[in-house]
Amino acid sequence: MKIAVLPGDGIGPEIIVQAVRVLRALELKCEIEEAPVGGAAYEAHGHPLPEATLNLAKAADAVLFGAVGDWKYDQLERQFRPEQAILGLRKHLGLFANFRPAICYEQLTHASSLKPELVAGLDILIIRELTGDIYFGQPRGRRQAVDGHFPGTEEAFDTMRYSRPEIERIARVAFEAARVRKQAGGRGKVTSVDKANVLETFQFWKDVVTDVHKAYSDVQLEHLYVDNAAMQLVRAPKSFDVIVTGNMFGDILSDEAAMLTGSIGMLPSASLDSRQKGLYEPSHGSAPDIAGKNVANPLATILSMAMMLRFTLDQPESADRVEAAVRHVLQQGLRTADIWSAGTHKVGTREMGDAVVAAITKTITKKS
Ligand code: IPM
Ligand code: MG
Repeated sequence: MKIAVLPGDGIGPEIIVQAVRVLRALELKCEIEEAPVGGAAYEAHGHPLPEATLNLAKAADAVLFGAVGDWKYDQLERQFRPEQAILGLRKHLGLFANFRPAICYEQLTHASSLKPELVAGLDILIIRELTGDIYFGQPRGRRQAVDGHFPGTEEAFDTMRYSRPEIERIARVAFEAARVRKQAGGRGKVTSVDKANVLETFQFWKDVVTDVHKAYSDVQLEHLYVDNAAMQLVRAPKSFDVIVTGNMFGDILSDEAAMLTGSIGMLPSASLDSRQKGLYEPSHGSAPDIAGKNVANPLATILSMAMMLRFTLDQPESADRVEAAVRHVLQQGLRTADIWSAGTHKVGTREMGDAVVAAITKTITKKS
């Protein structure tokens, strides 16, 4: 097993270090190779996604990714900005299916900004299409307006688009996921989120998802407009099971869902291609304001690494062990600043990593 590790910017390096320590503690046979990405790669090689980094990611079985971005690069030409690295990896590796589970751990029920009874036991899965939509649609750019409200003035535009096969494949991923969850006691429901009342692209989305659903009669399908979905997510989050949506709506709704769980610092993600190869990254960003201060929560990255073990590397037992270790440290009352509440014990990034490693070492020792 070859794993490409791309730490990136801001808190990326310090949270990745902890995830790699946990991975090593599992004592699996795997080869780990690191490469620069994002602003760090721009500084070192003049490009946020250097060819060597892209080739390493292509050659690896899985990619473990930290985070990219820093305000200091905001003035760069778009193609050199750190975000282009993650967008480029998604595009070049064909990572069209983004899994963002939002699970509220029992111990963190009170860390959520919502009332505990609304989030206790929450377990929803957002499936975001990741290589299409307005993120990648062409043409885009700036130009002189020829029509609109102010002809003759400067304007900017992007293109929202989806093809039938793009919608079909992400819809199938969502229905399959809902089916698997149903077998494990889940509700077996997919909520497709669109804006069919206004946008042509999302009327088409709704039509295609409805077509694909015909092959999944054991799974329930409902449609929600994105504005209503945003509201329902904070009104009654437990009414959802699997949510499937386009790239931009998924970007927004997954950040919203993260807060239901207490902190975006807890939210892992997996971005998969059609053969289960994947890139694994925390759902949060590079948080340059707290970088290097040993305060960032490494758990989202550690949990992303667990998803990597389960989805791509076929090591479900090791994945279980990591997830159990995370639950154990929360049970012990350890909290980074983002999930701290009175009566718990505040720790830094490193100490949190230490505790997860210790919990894993303990279970390994117990087993042997
Ligand atoms: C995310 C991030 C990215 C996105 C940025 C960094 C380009 O917000 O993974 O959700 O918009 O997809
Ligand atoms: Mg986002």
